[in-house]
Amino acid sequence: MDCVKKYYNEHAQEYAQKTAEVFDLKALDSFMSGLPKGAKILDVGTGSGRDALYFKDRGFNVEAIDVSSELCEIASRTLNQPVYNKSVLDIEGEGVYDGVWCYASLLHLSREDIQKSIDLMFNALTKGGCLFMSFKHGETDGVTHCGRFYFDMNHERLKKFKMDKWQTMQVWIEPCKRQGGNRPDWFCILLKK
Ligand SMILES: C[S@@+](CC[C@H](N)C(=O)[O-])C[C@H]1O[C@@H](n2cnc3c(N)ncnc32)[C@H](O)[C@@H]1O
Repeated sequence: MDCVKKYYNEHAQEYAQKTAEVFDLKALDSFMSGLPKGAKILDVGTGSGRDALYFKDRGFNVEAIDVSSELCEIASRTLNQPVYNKSVLDIEGEGVYDGVWCYASLLHLSREDIQKSIDLMFNALTKGGCLFMSFKHGETDGVTHCGRFYFDMNHERLKKFKMDKWQTMQVWIEPCKRQGGNRPDWFCILLKK
């Protein structure tokens, strides 16, 4: 976790600029279509605040968190509201959010911490609430040359998580839209409480 926080703090400005326009419209639309008007959304690992602003501009009530204090500052300027410097593992409460959005953020956690996060988010959601998560599509995990830990996901790996309390709405693979390099596809998961 410390290597992840350190990476995003040291590269916050550059990362926010590179990803500011990288919208995954299919994922955003699928998630929003399951939410009531004005729903309360938690954006976990908001980065630049890009998706949180997308939700806010569409009338949703958004709260955003990130482990990187530098990205929290950038995102709070994007959103024009406070962004909290905390981990998904610190989420508390029952029935607080109608939707939790984890775009490419849980991918930096270990298998055990992903499971813990999924359980915490289940509690934090209202009944019928939606959880979106995306990971790099693959079958490995470990620290990359950039010093960040990645847990990749595929259908086989997903089956090993305890999700029996959830209703699986959709699981799909989305091509990466960022320019440059041979980037893996995204493995997207939409669940309902
Ligand atoms: C690959 S970036 C994605 C950022 C943003 N969601 C986007 O799509 O542009 C991963 C983000 O998750 C944050 N992050 C990593 N671990 C986290 C954790 N345990 N809790 C909250 N945020 C975390 C990082 O600081 C970073 O902003």
